[in-house]
Amino acid sequence: MILITGATGYIGSHTWVELLNAGYDVVGIDNLCNSNIKVLDRIEAITSVKPKFIEMNVCNSNALKSLFNLYSIDAVIHFAALKAVGKSVNNPLEYYKNNLGGILELTQVMSEKNCFTLVFSSSATVYDANNPIPYQEGMPLGSTSPYGWTKLMSEQMLRDLEISNPNFSVAYLRYFNPIGAHESGFIGEDPLGIPNNLMPYITQVAIGKRPHLSIYGNDWLTHDGTGVRDYIHVVDLARGHLKALNYLMSGKGSILVNLGTGKGFSVLDLVKAFEKASNRKIPYQFAPRRIGDIAAFYSDSARAQKDLNWRAEYDLYRMCEDSWRWQSMNPNGYE
Ligand code: NAD
Ligand code: WQD
Repeated sequence: MILITGATGYIGSHTWVELLNAGYDVVGIDNLCNSNIKVLDRIEAITSVKPKFIEMNVCNSNALKSLFNLYSIDAVIHFAALKAVGKSVNNPLEYYKNNLGGILELTQVMSEKNCFTLVFSSSATVYDANNPIPYQEGMPLGSTSPYGWTKLMSEQMLRDLEISNPNFSVAYLRYFNPIGAHESGFIGEDPLGIPNNLMPYITQVAIGKRPHLSIYGNDWLTHDGTGVRDYIHVVDLARGHLKALNYLMSGKGSILVNLGTGKGFSVLDLVKAFEKASNRKIPYQFAPRRIGDIAAFYSDSARAQKDLNWRAEYDLYRMCEDSWRWQSMNPNGYE
């Protein structure tokens, strides 16, 4: 049995679907602080499997122990975390408590229950922004936000745990910028309130919920002056988790990899691709640079290809098509 924490969230729900499609027995947990219970019906509609789900906080050690008593858990994929960079600057303690508390309680209970296989959601945000691009796994680390520090500190905690208990094997997966949605249009990204990230903002402009996109800066040192990122289809990302799980379960030890496409696209590249895929115009205005942003980063994805035999398959156009299908079939998200 595989345990997914943060299972009803954006990446968790897509990974759940891929695991069920691959025949895994899965139990999902989530406290629903940033997701919707309706995800469960959608997962069932896609996979024809009724998802096993328990609403709980991953920081609750007793609830975790009961869960591990109920199911024989072979491995955990740990997504549960708060992820809004800006909010983490205003509420750092909430982020440290939730994200570090979660990994702490989870790994403690895993140790007690003899479950030593863990896939961890890390992020490209752990790389020092002064690194040259593309980012390689061995490059210096650093962070500019409490959110980023929770990911760096979690990685460190897990490394220390591995040293103290060599039974543990951990996949540290550093995601770049996930966008897109399942091709069914049944599950996708459903941010609460005003989206912080680019793609959900674009889809909400396209559906008429927001008048225009603000593009943060047109004077970056990039090919068209707008910020460049490594956008990756969430289904490709989800499949990377299956590869990582198989790697760990085959006894090869721990692994640290970037999950990205290895290609950088600008905000304007994304807007153009989206306009073509959706056949809608995206009005935009240039606005001042957003604090904390950098000009460009994308992954070196060679290690994932070599060690996991994984690489992203979907292109930018397909990411836009699927994001738009999700948004147009669900103008108000899951509500
Ligand atoms: P999400 O917010 O959609 O999913 C996270 C889920 O965790 C939510 O359903 C939320 O309700 C749940 N959760 C949060 N705290 C919890 C707790 N204490 N107990 C139980 N459930 C809890 O986010 P996502 O985009 O699916 O991200 C999943 C993971 O990937 C996170 O760890 C995030 O930091 C990481 N990540 C995301 C991105 C991105 O751009 N989306 C990039 C890099 C890394
Ligand atoms: C992409 C580009 C913006 C919104 C964030 C987190 C990171 C990771 C992924 C979790 C940038 C521009 C955006 C808008 C814009 N999450 N933009 N107008 O900042 O690369 O990464 O999400 O680990 O930690 O920081 O993603 O989608 O916010 O921005 O012009 O309304 O779009 O300036 O160039 P980012 P993003």
